[in-house]
Amino acid sequence: MAGGFRRFRVAAKVPESDVITSFYLEPADGGPLWDARPGQYLTLRVPAKGGAVLRTYSLSCDVAEPSHHRITVKREGRPSNGADMPDGVGSCWLHDHVETGAEIEVAAPRGAFVLNEGSDRPVVLLAGGVGLTPLLSMLHGLAATNRRAWFVQAYENGAVHAMGDEVRKLVAASGGRIRAHTVYRSPTADDLAAGLHQDTGFIDRAVLQALLPLDDYEFYMCGPTPFMVAMYRLLREFGVPKHRIAYEFFGKATSLEALAETPAAAPKVASRAPSAIAGLAFLTNPGARAVPDAMPKAAADPEQPATLHDGDTALLDGDVVFARSGASAQWRDAAGSLLELAEEAGLAPEFSCRAGICNTCRCKIVEGDVTYFEDPLHPPPAGEVLICCSRPVGRVVLDI
Ligand SMILES: Cc1cc2nc3c(=O)[nH]c(=O)nc-3n(C[C@H](O)[C@H](O)[C@H](O)COP(=O)(O)OP(=O)(O)OC[C@H]3O[C@@H](n4cnc5c(N)ncnc54)[C@H](O)[C@@H]3O)c2cc1C
Ligand code: FES
Repeated sequence: MAGGFRRFRVAAKVPESDVITSFYLEPADGGPLWDARPGQYLTLRVPAKGGAVLRTYSLSCDVAEPSHHRITVKREGRPSNGADMPDGVGSCWLHDHVETGAEIEVAAPRGAFVLNEGSDRPVVLLAGGVGLTPLLSMLHGLAATNRRAWFVQAYENGAVHAMGDEVRKLVAASGGRIRAHTVYRSPTADDLAAGLHQDTGFIDRAVLQALLPLDDYEFYMCGPTPFMVAMYRLLREFGVPKHRIAYEFFGKATSLEALAETPAAAPKVASRAPSAIAGLAFLTNPGARAVPDAMPKAAADPEQPATLHDGDTALLDGDVVFARSGASAQWRDAAGSLLELAEEAGLAPEFSCRAGICNTCRCKIVEGDVTYFEDPLHPPPAGEVLICCSRPVGRVVLDI
């Protein structure tokens, strides 16, 4: 099938909460499952008006499970104040139209938000809302090791808290090595009677300090953007080094460090978060709500020519030349990707997934060559490259 997609059959469709449903997927051709790492996601081709769209969903299962993959999806209906707006394309298609027995098109697991399986450090998983999905897969991975782990989760209330039983089983089987802590912002009377949450309000400094003995943890977090900003700020205040904090955005990928350093201003939620996610700002402390709509970017140097002419790029002596902006930079492996190098140089190329899926970061390569550390889902035409998932091979000149 074109573009690396295979057909998978929905072996089971299981409601997990009022708004979240799991889909158990088996290869329709009877072939093997994909190899995957805990934390990775699948890409689905979703039928839509005007052609298919791609949507990514984290694996929520134990990736060692031999019979199926599982994704767990929150239905993103139109906002309550948006009568004229459409429902979310992918999640509502899955919830409303894909039933057990249906076949869907799926591309192989990808993503760098993965459990560091080579480490024996204790792990803290911080989940907000449906952001629990990749972390639950990691929790399954951790259950098969001797590592200590804390699964700290924030939900509005029990009605939207998915997969609590599965987490409790992992905790019970771990002999005290794995602990879970659940915080409801607004528990109902039924929640208070059920006693399945341990705190009310937000995951804040007091909650983490009471839970976590002093240690050298690895932190993994996923949830609404304001939730992650609040958690990142807290962890950095605790002195956790940046390289011990891994995170995944369910919206447009961006830098949490830059968001966390942005001073709080007007009380509003990041507009980049899908509206349904932005509505969950209350999962975290109100101080985190003031996230700007756009990442601060250093302005391009107005002294630089807007466009270089043929041959001019030789004047720019970096390994990587951004010809249109008249900037250049030395390549370092620590930069990660050409996109990140461009951002460090103060440029703001277009991007969305930062994972080789959407082709938003596609640009012309004027000179030189690149190598991909993540294969593009749809390779760009000759003479163009995806900068979010590539590094230079020697000197390159890009039309940026
Ligand atoms: C790496 C990664 C992993 C992910 N894993 C998961 C996962 O495990 N589970 C999960 O549930 N999600 C996950 N997501 C999110 C998922 O990919 C989708 O973004 C999500 O399901 C919403 O997609 P959609 O097509 O349903 O909604 P979209 O069509 O993208 O719409 C999003 C929201 O915007 C609203 N909207 C649409 N048009 C407008 C408009 N004009 N004005 C205002 N609002 C509008 C819609 O009503 C909807 O609420 C993940 C995302 C990433 C990047
Ligand atoms: S940003 Fe999506 S492919 Fe590069």
